[in-house]
Amino acid sequence: MTEISGRVAFITGAASGLGLAMAKAFARRGAKVMLSDRDADGLAKAEADLRASGAEVGSVVCDVTDLEAVKAAAKATLERFGKVHLVVNNAGVAIGGQPGAIPIEDWRWIVDINLMGVVHGVEVFTPILQAQGEGGHIVNTASMAGHAALPGAAPYNATKFAVVGYSETLRNELAGEGIGVSALCPGWVNTNIHKTGFERPSGGPTLEQAQSDPTYQQMAAVIEGGLDADAVAEWTADCVEANRLYVFTHADFKAGIEQRFDEVLKDYQAIVDDGRFS
Ligand SMILES: NC(=O)c1ccc[n+]([C@@H]2O[C@H](COP(=O)([O-])OP(=O)(O)OC[C@H]3O[C@@H](n4cnc5c(N)ncnc54)[C@H](O)[C@@H]3O)[C@@H](O)[C@H]2O)c1
Repeated sequence: MTEISGRVAFITGAASGLGLAMAKAFARRGAKVMLSDRDADGLAKAEADLRASGAEVGSVVCDVTDLEAVKAAAKATLERFGKVHLVVNNAGVAIGGQPGAIPIEDWRWIVDINLMGVVHGVEVFTPILQAQGEGGHIVNTASMAGHAALPGAAPYNATKFAVVGYSETLRNELAGEGIGVSALCPGWVNTNIHKTGFERPSGGPTLEQAQSDPTYQQMAAVIEGGLDADAVAEWTADCVEANRLYVFTHADFKAGIEQRFDEVLKDYQAIVDDGRFS
């Protein structure tokens, strides 16, 4: 899919941050956009703002952990616009914690949203794209945390590495049908992502309580000092039109990627040199 203009985009997590910014960027390029989010109030506001800017827009409340809700969102998209070409599986949350101290219910919660939410989007929308026979593009929002394992963020890193591997697989599987796949892998972007962990099922401090905690303040400062979401969304639209596998945003993280690959290759070389399986 080399042109976004005239296409229909469906976007999850579109009431805030990167999802909303991508909706605006795609609309600026002439796409019709179907916004979805579990936050009904935020969604209504986002839809009204986009419509006021002249975009052709619809919306559907959808929690990506609920397969039936994702199916209903696809149906609503087709009822509203007749077709869908660009599917953006973007909804996500972030939690951290130290090994041995992360409640299993929190693990399941983040896996359900960050990984299974993407799976639901792919499984529901791929047959629609295939049946239309007009090609298309899937964007799965991963993260730099899908390439570099920052300490203290195991649940987030694990889900984002999974989305990276999943997207690479899909890219090879769908290329023959003219359906591109990209993994959006930003570093820090100024959104509300640092506030999402307070909805974790195990409870813990509320956002209000955490605001006086230095660890939270540090994370908030990093996110608030991150890239502008609209700029990242514009670059994402460029990468979709160029059919790139990866949408990277932070040039200064390249050294970290090289270091990781050096480590992988070092351990690979160990078995090459050992020769026992050659
Ligand atoms: N902000 C960053 O620094 C950054 C960096 C890398 C990747 N990301 C990823 O970008 C994506 C978007 O996050 P953001 O930074 O815009 O944060 P955000 O909190 O501003 O937006 C996330 C949106 O997802 C929605 N959402 C959460 N759970 C949902 C669910 N179960 N069903 C439907 N909607 C749900 C929220 O209501 C919210 O509108 C996430 O996948 C996140 O992991 C963010």
